[in-house]
Amino acid sequence: MSAPIENRPVTVPDFVSARARGVKLTMLTAYDYVSARLLDEAGVDSILVGDSLGMVVQGNPHSLPVTLDEMIYHTRCVARGVKRALLITDMPFMSYQLNPEQALANAGRLVKEAGAHAVKLEGGIRSASAIEKIVRADIPVVGHVGLTPQSVRKLGGFRVQRNEDLLMDDAKAVADAGAFAIVLECIPADLATRITGELRIPTIGIGAGAGCDGQVLVLHDLLGMFEDLHPKFVKRYAELGTAFKDAVQQYCSEVRKGKYPAKEHEFK
Ligand code: KIV
Repeated sequence: MSAPIENRPVTVPDFVSARARGVKLTMLTAYDYVSARLLDEAGVDSILVGDSLGMVVQGNPHSLPVTLDEMIYHTRCVARGVKRALLITDMPFMSYQLNPEQALANAGRLVKEAGAHAVKLEGGIRSASAIEKIVRADIPVVGHVGLTPQSVRKLGGFRVQRNEDLLMDDAKAVADAGAFAIVLECIPADLATRITGELRIPTIGIGAGAGCDGQVLVLHDLLGMFEDLHPKFVKRYAELGTAFKDAVQQYCSEVRKGKYPAKEHEFK
């Protein structure tokens, strides 16, 4: 097994060759400069400015209200903190569904105005023409099938997707359209493994088991900071929500008791 890329920026070809190199890919979301910088310094391969920001940053129940201008704003903030990771940005709901020309124009804005290295968009067969159009302009695309959160109204909620034939066809359509990687969200692990075996491009799983070529999580879930949803697939690697509240309570208490600021915090 070869080592992950360490001393230079991660590229699209690095992603594509990861399986052959025996390397598992890591991806996490970020929406701001400080988080992006910490993730980049910690060595994550790829940072996704996910439209999940509609939930964890904006407090919406889903990602549908997120606008292209908001994605551009957050991608710019993240881009300033990234030196090494591949920076991928989500195309928000209704920024690529109208026609391939709309999709290309908006993908172009995310690259040119915001600094994204690649874009991600949801949907399989239905999004293939948009993916093709964007890829032909040399903008790298990541696909996303399975539970596609922008379809929450149609799906009736955030549910595991189990239609095997449809999911396999969707994944193949994304790969055939020229995407360089694909996110598989909330599908049974054995199906994700089979899809991975059928595709030449890397699969990045979220709630799709260990058979994928890489994994992605929403940063706030991994850090234990987001309490609105508790998906089964999330592993909380820290309890920063609790640490956050403890620190703020301590600050409030010390200010109220006159313990902070102390002498060492004063200017002479
Ligand atoms: O919006 C997002 O954060 C995503 C990931 C969860 C894959 O699409």
